[in-house]
Amino acid sequence: MTTDKINISHSVPQHIAIIMDGNGRWAKARGLDRTEGHKQGAETVKSIVKASGKAGVKYLTLFAFSTENWKRPQYEVDAIMNLLVYMLERETPELNKNNVKLMTIGDISQLEDKAKASLKKSIDTTSNNSGLTLIIALNYGSRAELLRAINNWANDVTAGKVLQKSIDEKTFEKYLYTHNIPDPDLLIRTSGEQRISNFLLWQLAYSEFYFASCTWPDFSDEEFSKALSTFAARERRFGLTGEQIEKNNDKPISSC
Ligand code: IPE
Ligand code: IPE
Ligand code: MG
Repeated sequence: MTTDKINISHSVPQHIAIIMDGNGRWAKARGLDRTEGHKQGAETVKSIVKASGKAGVKYLTLFAFSTENWKRPQYEVDAIMNLLVYMLERETPELNKNNVKLMTIGDISQLEDKAKASLKKSIDTTSNNSGLTLIIALNYGSRAELLRAINNWANDVTAGKVLQKSIDEKTFEKYLYTHNIPDPDLLIRTSGEQRISNFLLWQLAYSEFYFASCTWPDFSDEEFSKALSTFAARERRFGLTGEQIEKNNDKPISSC
């Protein structure tokens, strides 16, 4: 039995995943169309990408459009897709300037041609950047991702490309969109909702969760700093006891 303390604390999350929620309510509260909320939300994306790079975050995954969001009114879906193209065209030079590398997760083959073309252009243009990796989750749903992984693995078994007849965690992860990306250390969801909404079900197994009450358009750099300092004060255990962990910061427990 070892008595060595294990150092698993990181003050800055290496990977932050964000469920950017509340754009519609932000707009409604101001008597505006929901699409105005998405436009304002895109400005928040800009500032949080910058702030993440500055804070030393290596990966930032933003949930931009879920597999379920297709069920929204067509005009809203169109507005989100048009906004995506507009932002990619407007912001790719800035991403490059800030050494940000763009990636996507999700089934982008289902997007319109112009969105696919803009994404390809931005991904290619930023592919050699070595700073923050910005991962946009588009037409992403975790259940779809898991089923795709299982089906692809089964196809590889049938084709004789993989020999083993059972799959371990490491091999399974190779079939996920997030292959080669470390699991999120911190999940942030804005707008007061406290649910996962089919986001990164596998990858969030040991992430810290932070729920901000403000909507995504109102999520300022100060709110982001609050999330980072809350994360820094958390004790992650990964199944160990507090005593096994270096810099154990057990807080006094309160009764229920
Ligand atoms: C998040 O904001 C953006 C997307 C899901 C595309 P919402 O559009 O969900 O805003 P609310 O939750 O309706 O306020
Ligand atoms: C999750 O938000 C999806 C994105 C942020 C893109 P939703 O607004 O779609 O989630 P629910 O429907 O409230 O769970
Ligand atoms: Mg929502």
